[in-house]
This record gives sequence, C-alpha cells and structure tokens, in this order.
Amino acid sequence: MSKPRLWITRRLSDATLERAAKTYDVVINYDDTPGTAEQIIAASAEFDAILPCHSEHFSAEVVAKLDPRLKIVANHSVGVDHCDLEALRARGITVTNTPDVLSDATAELAMLLMLGAARHAVAGDRTVRSGKWDSWSPAFMVGKQVTGARLGIIGMGRVGRAFAAKARGFDMEIHYFNRSELPPTQAQGAKYHSSVESLLSVADFLSLHCPATAETNDLMNAERFALLPKGAVVVNSARGALVDEEALMAALDTGHVAAAGLDCFKVEPGGNPAFSDYHNVFMLPHIGSATRTTRDAMGFRALDNLDAFFAGKTPQDVL
Ligand code: DGY
Repeated sequence: MSKPRLWITRRLSDATLERAAKTYDVVINYDDTPGTAEQIIAASAEFDAILPCHSEHFSAEVVAKLDPRLKIVANHSVGVDHCDLEALRARGITVTNTPDVLSDATAELAMLLMLGAARHAVAGDRTVRSGKWDSWSPAFMVGKQVTGARLGIIGMGRVGRAFAAKARGFDMEIHYFNRSELPPTQAQGAKYHSSVESLLSVADFLSLHCPATAETNDLMNAERFALLPKGAVVVNSARGALVDEEALMAALDTGHVAAAGLDCFKVEPGGNPAFSDYHNVFMLPHIGSATRTTRDAMGFRALDNLDAFFAGKTPQDVL
C-alpha cells in the first residue's frame, strides 16, 4: 500500500521530520515561511494530510475551497484559533492538536514573564547594556515581590495548572477563574472564583491561560483592568486576542497596572510597536513552547495523531 501523502508546513524538529519521513510520503516546507491560503488550498488536492502550525490559517473561506482529498489537519499546536473547526468538521476533515506536551514549557515562560515584569528585567538590562548604569541607591529599580503574593489565573486547563504548580514554589496564594470548578485533586488548594470580576479583585499578579475564542476576545478590556488591585502585574502567554492592547497601555500609563509580561500580541509576527516605549513591559516573540524537548514532543504528538488516523483509529486529540 502506498504511504499517505503529508505536507508539513514549517520546519519542525529534526526528530519529527525524520520520523515523519519513515511513515509518510512527506513534503516539508524547508523554507519555513508561513503557508498562504493559496498554498493550503493547492496542497489539499495533493496531500491526504496537512501538519500545520498556528501560522497557517484554515479560515471558513479557505476550508470552503479545500479539495476532498484532504482528510486530516494534524496541528502542531495546542491552540487552534487559526482553524475554523466548525467549517472543517462540516467538510468531514478530522482536526487534532497537541495538548499536554507543551504545558511545562509554556508555564516556564509565563514564570519568566511574571518575574521579568515584576523585577524590571527590561529597564535593568537596558541600563547595564547601554553603559548608563552609573549609580546605585536603595530606591533604584524597586520591583514587586512575587513570593507570597496573590496570583489570579484565568483558564485553569493544563497550562494554567502547570503554571500554578510552579507558582506554588514561590508560595503564591493561588486564585483562579475557569468555566467550571476543578476537583480538589486538580485545584491543589487554589481558590475558585465563579466570575472573572471576582478573580480580578484579588489578582496582584494576573496570568492568562485560556484559549482565544469569540467569547474571550478582548477579555481584558479597560473595565476589567480597572478591577485589578492598583499596581498589578499582567502576564499573557496564551493568545494576543485576549487583551485589548490600547486598554493595557492606558492602564500602564496611569500606573494602575505596574508592569506586563507579554509573549502574545494581536498582530503576529511583529507585535505592537507602541509597547516598545514601555520599559515596564517585558516582551517575547511567541516562544512559550519553544524548547527542544517540547518541540520534539509536539511533533511526535501530531504524528501519533496522524498514525492513529491512518490506522483507522480515532486519534487521541481529535477536536
Ligand atoms: C500553541 O501550541 O498553541 C502555541 O502557541 C504554539 O503554536
């Protein structure tokens, strides 16, 4: 039997690409440029499966033009806001993602963002790097202590819980909002809030870990930033769509929000250049899951899903 034809849209880890080549008649985009709508539509007539990243957009318009040959979209991401799931399902195309395997890497990065924002990582680095560090005083670059502080987590899924586990190492008092309350074995003592508003009132540190959906678009808007305790630190390692960036800047301008750590932006790649004027905003270019271990694990998880599908089984991560 001939091997299924697979298009891998980006340069995945070497181990992933080697494994894929053993099982599939695979074409890899070694140029590593994001796949365009035209490329996705053309590929659907030549491939049985596509293994994309969040950089390839399966909008309703694209999905409507897909060739019936394409049977599965096995995403190399946990977030699937780049896929119109309803449209894909309506076309009978199986969609999978890669949960679990990136939770620790993303939680690590959220911790880096939180600490970096709280302790002037950007301003401090710039001061030393530019040779402008010419004095010291007890009043110099005084930050906000993380240890023992109240942490609010919105979205207590796998990444939210991994972040909470790391925050416990800093003795943080953990509060969360989630669609439903977690069982005690998962909550591990974290206090549940049945509304975002209630959570915000205690969040000296706020970290976002929910998916981008129509309901969570601009979840953090001007009204909600105002509900945070004065001097709160905001962290977003989930999706840029969750934050009204103008409203965040306004809250930073008044000092109501003391600092922010951002790995995600409304516009990616690129981010929001207006944040560059803020030395209290620590920014990274959407690299939450970018560790070697996790890249291999994500690639392998996507291939596990494909292998199951082509073996006639239900992949473990069907959406
Ligand atoms: C994810 O898996 O959703 C990460 O943001 C990387 O795409």
